[in-house]
This record gives sequence, structure tokens and C-alpha cells, in this order.
Amino acid sequence: MNNLVKITKDNDVVIITIDNPPVNALSPGVPEGIGAAIDEINHDPTVKAAVVIGAGRTFVAGADIKEFGKMTSGGPRRSLLPLLLKIEDSAKPVVMAIHGQAFGGGLELAMAGHYRVASPSAQVGQPEVKLGIIPGAGGTQRLPRLVGVAKAVEMCAEGKPISARDAAALGLIDRLIDGDLLAGAVTFACEIAAKPAPKTRERADKQGTAAENAVIFSAARDTARKKQRGLIAPLAAIDAVEASTKLPFDQGCEAEAKLFTECLFSDQSKALIHVFFGERKVAKIPDIPKETPVLPINRVAVVGSGTMGGGIAMVFANASIPVLLKEVDEAALEQGLGKIKKNYATSVQRGRITQTFADECLHIITPVLSYDAFSDVDMVVEAVFEGMALKKAVFGDLDRVCRKGAILASNTSTLDIDEIASATSRPESVIGTHFFSPANVMRLLEIVRGTKSSKEVIATCMQLSKKLGKIGVLVGNCRGFVGNRMFGPYRREAQFLIEEGSDAQSVDQALVDFGNAMGPMATGDLAGLDVGWRIRKEYRHLEKPGIRQPFAEDRLCEMGRYGQKTLRGWYLYDENRRPTPDPEVIALVRQWSAEAGIPQRQISSAEIVDRCIYALVNEGARILEEGYALRAVDIDIIYINGYGFPAHRGGPMWYADTMGLQKVYERICDFHRQHGELWAPAPLLKRLAQSGKTFADFDKESQAAPEIALRA
Ligand code: 3HC
Repeated sequence: MNNLVKITKDNDVVIITIDNPPVNALSPGVPEGIGAAIDEINHDPTVKAAVVIGAGRTFVAGADIKEFGKMTSGGPRRSLLPLLLKIEDSAKPVVMAIHGQAFGGGLELAMAGHYRVASPSAQVGQPEVKLGIIPGAGGTQRLPRLVGVAKAVEMCAEGKPISARDAAALGLIDRLIDGDLLAGAVTFACEIAAKPAPKTRERADKQGTAAENAVIFSAARDTARKKQRGLIAPLAAIDAVEASTKLPFDQGCEAEAKLFTECLFSDQSKALIHVFFGERKVAKIPDIPKETPVLPINRVAVVGSGTMGGGIAMVFANASIPVLLKEVDEAALEQGLGKIKKNYATSVQRGRITQTFADECLHIITPVLSYDAFSDVDMVVEAVFEGMALKKAVFGDLDRVCRKGAILASNTSTLDIDEIASATSRPESVIGTHFFSPANVMRLLEIVRGTKSSKEVIATCMQLSKKLGKIGVLVGNCRGFVGNRMFGPYRREAQFLIEEGSDAQSVDQALVDFGNAMGPMATGDLAGLDVGWRIRKEYRHLEKPGIRQPFAEDRLCEMGRYGQKTLRGWYLYDENRRPTPDPEVIALVRQWSAEAGIPQRQISSAEIVDRCIYALVNEGARILEEGYALRAVDIDIIYINGYGFPAHRGGPMWYADTMGLQKVYERICDFHRQHGELWAPAPLLKRLAQSGKTFADFDKESQAAPEIALRA
């Protein structure tokens, strides 16, 4: 056929193999190859049936996502619909043999076949909404005909894959094949060869009644508006599935195509596609090639069983890596373990994991009070209280007790990794692994490169992050690293806005409406206002005199208002930690602001968003220029996975590109004039804006110069 699609014969069954590594995406050439193979089987009288299978690790992961960018920038529009009709209309039955994944266009291809068989470990799904689009090759029309309307709506609107076993129970897969998939598929093909080939598009037995469907669609829309707040694709997917229940197949496909195009050309889709590739790009470190040897991590230890330490121990246990959990005394250890047990029990109760899995995890977490068994571990993560003296003392101990070559990692969120490493005789083995709270839930892992961290240690941590189900992003060693360094100016502006006349609720609401998971004041209350307060006190000597500093939060802390844990912070909390605005705080801030001579005014939501988000962008640009982040997209991935930034806005740097850097720069210049030095525009932002470039251009240009390595 062509080099992407191969054809072989097993007696009178033709095997059509899609071979487009790594994931057999339907890139240009693949649909053409499949189409030619279908023509060939129909012209060859000796052929009774065909099997379509994927070479390598998977069936077909979908349309080639790289092609979408070409289409939206004026390239030709490619549709799989004619190919799928050709397969469905084939006079010879076509059996789709699925292993790995049949996602997106891959599942649409499979549904155009007359039968589907699968390995039990396979997964199928329509994940397009995660890219801000909807299935565009008849998925919203064929899936309801195979699995029923309710399940199809769920799969297309939420985008979650299902297992082959579940798919078989739903009727989407005709047979599960243990062992050799191809041999099983050929046997199946021989069995059905003489029977009439069923066409999915002609099925109507699962379409449901209008009344039943109305209830399904209304509930799905409510769920989408609540759980996928602000996203357009899930609602479009529901509309498209609804079309399948009201229109003949061809017209349903037309309705789907129109909705698909609207989504594809949206800013949301462009942002989500940027995030898809970004999440994979962060794994690529220019000066650490893929072949860099990695160290085996089979046994680890965590020092400190507080909120972070306990969560980190769970992360390792969840990945089946046995973990020692060390504390200084029995009481602290018992408290830490109690919290871990409670977290597992809650997950079991909510149906997220089974009791057996929870038991297995707990079984491999070994509580200890001494360093005795540390000589056996491959890696230690220190998660003690955030203070340099204590961390250095712990690393001195670890240097003494751990074997040479073991990785010594600190979960510090702000402190200097090189100074921590200086407490050891092996700085090459020291690295930062900054987990985000709750560690067992949040996907981000900032991996902090010390000046002397070895390439093997970095490569090992990057690879380990994937095994732990995290997205590891390598960052340089500056105060607060990337995420928290940017979070400082963001929360600073939020406080300034309150001190200038806004209030916690208005600030939070504006940013939640923007799409953030939480507003900055509610986030502060959740994390504990005292955490930042203590850090600010430690670094007060570094503040430049004469530069405006926010004061309201420090004063709240002085009053013992630490946030949720004291049931008072920016908000008042009831015993279920439900917040209400606190008139006392509002009155106090007004009084403090009057004393400080800060003029009060009405502040719009648009200004709140610009001040807070552009503060992120400006600091992000500095970080990028100083070399503490490798690429702008790395910053985006950090913010989306660690700070609840809306993925459909692509991250702060992508958002700035979308707004236009010239506009962002001018707004920042306005803020500079109004609010002083803290708003001095980052030189990189100024340069890019003035030369009509974007942060994405910056990433492309730095890729072209691979000698640019991350500054340690
Ligand atoms: N198109 C182009 N490239 C793709 C791709 C796709 N559909 N799916 C994966 N890739 C690339 C990745 O970018 C990565 O490239 P890299 O090595 O250069 O970084 C490589 O394939 C391997 O991918 P992963 O690192 O993600 O490998 P995993 O084994 O961890 O995961 C996977 C494999 C589960 C298939 C995962 O890649 C995935 O979920 N892919 C996306 C699936 C998807 O969204 N499909 C729908 C596409 S849209 C569509 O089909 C529209 C249709 O309705 C018309």
C-alpha cells in the first residue's frame, strides 16, 4: 500500500497493518493506505475477510494532532469520513483488532469496521474534548448506535477512556482475545466471513426514545457546565450526540462536522493542543539526552510524616515502590500514619480505589524512627519543616547513613538546593523534588536542578515522575523556583487590590470566572496564611526600602487568623470549612488602608484579572530570560498542573501570547506608571512585544540553539 500501511495474507484473510510509530496516528498517508487496502480486498475474489491491526504498542491513538495546527493556519481540511464510509460499505467484512489504545479517530475507525475484537488490556475512548474539540469522524454518530445514548454522551463529553472489558460489556467490542491478538482476530474473521456484515450506521436498536434522551441530554449539560466550567467542547459534543438521535446518519455527520470546525478554530482548542504537546515537551531536556543512564529506584525513604511527607509516601506506595517513612517520635509517626490511613479509606469510600489496593499500599509503607534501614534505599525525599538549618542537619545525617549513589532529594518549596547540598559530601546526588499539596493528588512535580546535580540523577527523577503519575518539570535553583516565585507577585497584586478598595470575595470571584480552580485569597486560607508569613519574615531583610509591600495578610496572621485551620483567615469558616465573607476583615482592611493613606476606589473584575495574571506573566518572563525555566511552555505546564490555572487558556505565557504581547506590555507599562517599580516590565517581554514576537517564538528560537541549558 505505502510504507505506513502494510498488507499481508493469512490464507483467505487479509491483514492490514497500520505502522506509523509511535502511536499509529492517522497522519497523511495512513488513511490513503487503509483506503487502498480496502479497495484491494474488494477486488480480490480470493479474500473472504480482512483484519485491521496496529503495529507496535497500540492500535490507533487518533487523528494526527499536529495536523490541526496546519488546518487552523490555512492548510487543507482533511476528513476521515469518506474512508470510514468506504470501510463500512466494504463487501468483505472488516474486523478491527485493538490493543493498546483506540482513541479519537482510532475508535472512529474501529467503529466503521463490521466487528471489533480486543486484547483485555486495551482501552477505547473519545478523548477529543481534552483537546478542546469533539469527535470529527462520525464518533458522535456511531458511538451511540453501539453503546447507547447515555454512555456515548458521557464518553464524548467527558473524554475518559474505558477498558476493553467495559467496552465488551457495552457491545462496543465483540470479543476479548487473551493471548495472540492477531491469531485470535484471524480466527474470528474466519468465523464471521460468511455472515452478512453489520453496518454500525444502520443500527437503531440503542437509540432510545425522545423522552428518555431529553433527560440524558439535560443532565449531561448540567454536569458539563458544573464540572467542565467554561469549556465549549463538552457542550458541543453533547449537541452532536443529540443530533445522532434526531437526524439521519449523514445529516448527523454534517452537524458534527460543523460543531467540530467551530471547536477546532476556537482559542480553547489551540490552548489545549498547546498543553497536550507541552506536557510531553517538558520531558525533553536539551543537555540531557534520552540515552542518559537512569538509576534504578526500587526502594525509597521519606523523612517527615507531615502533610507533605505522608502524601509523598502515598505517591510512592501507589506506584508499588516500598517506602520507609521516618519521624522523630512515636506520636508524630502515629499521627502521620493515621492521616495516610484516613486518606486511603476516603479514596476507597469514594470508589476511586479498591480496599485491596489500599491494603497493598499500606503494607509497603514501613514506619521507622531511626535511619537504620536507610543504607538500603535508592532515594530519600526529605519533607521536614521548611527551615534551612533543619534541612541541612537532615542532609548531613543522610550523607552519613545512605549508600553512595543514592539520590538525596529535598521537597523544599523555596530554599536554596545548593546550600542544602553543601551539607553533604555528594552534591551531585542532591536534587529538589517539589511536590504540590495534596501530594497524592496534584500532578505537578518541580524537579530542581542544583549546580552540581548529576545528569543521571536528573534523568532518573524525570523518568520517575512519569512512573509516579506526575508531570515532572525541570526548573533552576532560584528562590521559590518557578511556581512559587511567580505566585508571590500574583498574590501580592491580589492583596494590593484589596487594600485599594476591593475585597477577598470580589478578587477570588474574578479569577474563578477567569477559569482558575480557586481564587488567590481562598487558596491562601487553604494552604495556611502563616506559611507565607513565616517565609516573608525570614526574607524581610532582602526587601528593598521604599518599595510598596502588602500588609493586610501579615496583620491577619498577627491576629492569629491563619485561614481554614483556625476557621478564620480572609474568610470565616464553619465547622465544615465552608467560607463566608467576613465583615470584620473588610472593615479592618478599610481602616488599615485609610491609615496608610491608600486612596479607595471601585475596582473592576477586568482590572483584577489583568493585575493578577499579568503579574504572573511579567515574573514568568524574567524567569525565562534568567534561564530558570527552559521554555515558556514549561511555565504553562507548571501553572496548569500545580496552581489550578485553566488549561483551556493554555497557561499564563500562552494566554499572554493569545492576548498579544504588545497589548500585555502596554498594560504592564500602565501599571508601572501607576504603581511603581514592582511593575517594571521584564526586559524579555519588552523585547518580544516590540519585535512583534510571542513566547511561543521564543521557545522555537531557543530550541534552535540547544546549547541553551537550564541555569542551575
Ligand atoms: N497525534 C500526534 N502525535 C501523537 C498523538 C496523536 N494523536 N498521540 C500521541 N502522539 C505523540 C506524542 O506527542 C508523543 O510524541 P513525542 O514522543 O514526540 O513526545 C508520542 O506520540 C508518544 O505519546 P505519549 O508520550 O503520550 O505516550 P504514552 O504511551 O504515554 O501515551 C497515548 C500514549 C495514550 C496514546 C497518548 O499519547 C494519548 O492520549 N494521545 C492522544 C490521544 C488523543 O487525544 N486522540 C484524539 C486525537 S483527535 C482525533 O482523533 C480527532 C478525530 O475525532 C477526527
